[in-house]
Amino acid sequence: MTKRRVAILISGRGSNMTALIEAAKAKDFPADIVLVVSNIAGAAGLARASEAGIATATVESKPFGKDREAFERRLQDTLVSHNIEIVCLAGFLRLLTPWFVKQWDGRMINIHPALLPSYKGLHTHERALADGVKIHGATVHFVVPEMDSGPIIMQGAVAVRDDDTPDLLAARVLEIEHQIYPDSLRLVASGRTRIENGHCKTDAGSPDDALISPEII
Ligand code: GAR
Repeated sequence: MTKRRVAILISGRGSNMTALIEAAKAKDFPADIVLVVSNIAGAAGLARASEAGIATATVESKPFGKDREAFERRLQDTLVSHNIEIVCLAGFLRLLTPWFVKQWDGRMINIHPALLPSYKGLHTHERALADGVKIHGATVHFVVPEMDSGPIIMQGAVAVRDDDTPDLLAARVLEIEHQIYPDSLRLVASGRTRIENGHCKTDAGSPDDALISPEII
């Protein structure tokens, strides 16, 4: 099996990055994580990637100011020089230009801490709690020029509890993120996803059991 060469882009602690690195250790995993790039110097995830023996690079976005494309051209050079085939955004807190997105059309995926298309943008857990929703979760999707949009590959849900706080809810959603991101990369890297009419279809099955919240006891 030829494994796809994957880069992970981060800005922070990199817990999703770590989940991807761990999953990719499996012999049958169809992707190799060969590079981690941060746009923030000293991001905690960089040290974690190095400890795991993975090449790291820092391409700081700050010096480029508002010239997003100039930053992205530098980033693109780094990705190309490592022969990257698939890009995973994992807490990469930069808006991407249509130019960069086009370079990776169908080959760049993102994880977002909400059940898209609800709660695009920041502070997703606070906003879900403020709305009183009973089910919340996370989404992995292909990246398109519009933020937090694009064909959905996989979603995972958690029940919201009456006494939840943003931090408690975030922690439970994060556990789900660490499951669905490796699983999504497995599907994409093994060519088991296809886009039909703007939607992502896979040959993976769907569970029969419903998640109903609250549960009457
Ligand atoms: C994750 O919860 C991820 O879903 C979120 O940032 C966190 C990064 O944590 N991403 C976004 O909000 C992007 N819109 P991590 O660095 O530990 O993976």
